[in-house]
Amino acid sequence: MTSPAPVDRRERVSQTVAPVKLWFCPNESLAPGIAATLATNWLDEQEQEVAGRFLFDRDRRQYLVAHALVRRVLALESGIPEAEAVLWRSSRGRPFLRKPVEGLPRGGRELDFNLSHAGGYNLLGVVRRHRIGVDVERLDRDRALDAIVESFAPEESAWVAEAAPGRSRDRRILRLWTLKEAYSKARGLGLGLAFDSFVFTLDDDRGVRAFRPPDGEPPGQWRFAELEPEPGVLVAVTVMTSPDEEPVLDLHHGFPWSRSAPRQLLLPQPAGAP
Ligand SMILES: CC(C)(COP(=O)(O)OP(=O)(O)OC[C@H]1O[C@@H](n2cnc3c(N)ncnc32)[C@H](O)[C@@H]1OP(=O)(O)O)[C@@H](O)C(=O)NCCC(=O)NCCS
Repeated sequence: MTSPAPVDRRERVSQTVAPVKLWFCPNESLAPGIAATLATNWLDEQEQEVAGRFLFDRDRRQYLVAHALVRRVLALESGIPEAEAVLWRSSRGRPFLRKPVEGLPRGGRELDFNLSHAGGYNLLGVVRRHRIGVDVERLDRDRALDAIVESFAPEESAWVAEAAPGRSRDRRILRLWTLKEAYSKARGLGLGLAFDSFVFTLDDDRGVRAFRPPDGEPPGQWRFAELEPEPGVLVAVTVMTSPDEEPVLDLHHGFPWSRSAPRQLLLPQPAGAP
């Protein structure tokens, strides 16, 4: 599997659309005491309530880091202070930022974000137009992967079965899974979308070769990026773009205490039908 190509700055002097922004933040980026302090000051009542319900410290820590990350990044992007951002959820649980009627303090009216957290890693994606969906999974996750494959379309299961059992098969399964989750989360449907109703064709070394959306859905201008920001940690990103857009992806690593320079990557072209 290859990551999207790095941006050649000589070729991209006139970038017209805001980049797709991605923050990859391992839990260790934030010491437990600091995460707890930020959470006390930034999280709303509902988030504090959820945080208080975890049985295990490990899970509470993951939640606190993830939600401190969301509020910090939204503050940097929108100009709304961390504790003042109002987050609401759709009937399917997808969180959105409530935008002030006069627009965002840092300009613009649109901003969409999506969060994923798993096994000590947090991933947050932000776009200024359309929707984004993200997913992060560890290759060594302990859940049985066979059950996951049962949810795939037959041609995807067949592609998985071609790989030798072990790490290469697990990688195929988790590449498909993260892409499916990211697409479904961009659509706001979560696991409410049958995972065998849309199909990815993947190459071992070239990312997403083709995409067939669920019946009745236009193929659209979906772009899919796969990254491995740390060995064994798989990330998938789905964004909808307009035909005239040529966005890049800014990848930030760690907790965003400041506006550090991201790694810039080209977003692959929209994936066509198989
Ligand atoms: C969204 C969902 C797929 C997350 O799966 P996951 O791999 O366990 O979790 P991830 O870490 O990748 O993502 C979790 C985050 O996604 C976001 N999220 C929740 N529901 C979402 C949705 N419908 N669409 C997009 N994002 C969603 C939230 O930010 C959530 O984190 P938070 O609760 O701490 O704020 C799953 O929880 C889900 O489908 N929930 C909705 C309920 C639903 O549709 N059930 C099926 C009924 S038919």
